[in-house]
Amino acid sequence: MVTGNGHRSNGEPSSRLSPVARLYAVVVVLAAVAVLVQALGSDAETDSAGIRSGFTLVVLALLFGVCDSTPTTLTSRQSAWSPSSAATLAAVVLAGPLGALAVGATSLLSVRRGVDLTQRVFNASMYGLGGYCAGRAYLLLGGTVGQPQRDAFPAIIIPFVVAAVVHVFINHGLLLGMLMLVPLVEAGPKGRTAGLHIPLLFFSDLGYATLGLLIAALWGGGLGAFAAILVVVPLFVARWAMGQFAAQERAYAATMAALCQAVETKDLYTRGHSDRVARGSAMIAQEVGMRSSRVEAIRYAGMLHDVGKLGVPTTVLQKNGPLTEDEFYLMKYHAHMGAEILSTIPGGEILQKALEHHHEAFDGSGYPQGLRGEQIPLWARILAVADAYVNMTSDHPFATARTAEQALSELEKGSGTRYDGMLVRLLSRQMKSENLPQV
Ligand SMILES: [Fe+2]
Repeated sequence: MVTGNGHRSNGEPSSRLSPVARLYAVVVVLAAVAVLVQALGSDAETDSAGIRSGFTLVVLALLFGVCDSTPTTLTSRQSAWSPSSAATLAAVVLAGPLGALAVGATSLLSVRRGVDLTQRVFNASMYGLGGYCAGRAYLLLGGTVGQPQRDAFPAIIIPFVVAAVVHVFINHGLLLGMLMLVPLVEAGPKGRTAGLHIPLLFFSDLGYATLGLLIAALWGGGLGAFAAILVVVPLFVARWAMGQFAAQERAYAATMAALCQAVETKDLYTRGHSDRVARGSAMIAQEVGMRSSRVEAIRYAGMLHDVGKLGVPTTVLQKNGPLTEDEFYLMKYHAHMGAEILSTIPGGEILQKALEHHHEAFDGSGYPQGLRGEQIPLWARILAVADAYVNMTSDHPFATARTAEQALSELEKGSGTRYDGMLVRLLSRQMKSENLPQV
């Protein structure tokens, strides 16, 4: 299941949640409390089953707690993933909706550093609600509560799968709702979720949720609580694998950042420039409708767009005044040099083309090849717009920074000549819709 990790998914401590995000959290918590009160007051057999299955609940709550206390941090967003849905879904079968709610609410007691009380209460409510609704869906479709016997199969499968889908939808829906509401300066609303690889997480969660049925079946087959222990081992292997993947991505990001820093050390005027171009490029890519993996890749392209400046003499880069023809030739060479540097990265062909052509102009007056219009790779056109916006809104020794409105208006003037007008319109629309955030 996905959850906030320490600094809740937005990189901001929960104490700094916006009033709307706080209201949202309060509504989720109240909904969970209302469901709990209603279920406790119910005399339905399936609800009281949750209370009576004490030992089962303790074991499943422990399983949930172990998983939830050791989540895998997800790349780029301060969110985390753990296979704890297996425990909640096992509770749906073994202990009913109320039992599943109780197991999900164990998140309140998870042993995790940096997760404050607000986050714990929100996570516990989110998981509790997910567990309870999954349990209700399971019962609605004819699922029976208790240790499943051999003759319960295959009839139990469809109610269980629907319960798992309901559970994952509620978990992802509630968390994404929070992600969309939290304040985040470095990306727009779509940027808050871009790093989550939603389809991957959704199907991972569904897959691990089905382990809940395995636990229940093994439990009913005579293994009892040992079923939970048997399932813990593969769960932790999976967690380790997810951790390796995330660590690899973080190492990749750190390498990119180190390269950028090398460029910025040489070219004093580009301090922070690459980071801003990365954010601007990602914003445009999201507006174009690129899938999240592409948006992440173009973010890297933005970070590295001037890496070729490593091959340009420092005297040229730091020159205060107009460049001679020879110096300008050397400066222009950075586009090709950047592509050369990236040629060593496997699968970096699109990145290479983006770097090679990020100084082409839409009317063919740019360099290095004088490509025009859609001959220029889309990624390079995106970088060009983001690069120009960041340059215009940055201080230079020879010019002060323009405001966001002035820069957007300049970009609009250059639409169709220097820049791709469609991309300028997308950037402008998005910036205005977000009240001109700092890119
Ligand atoms: Fe450049």
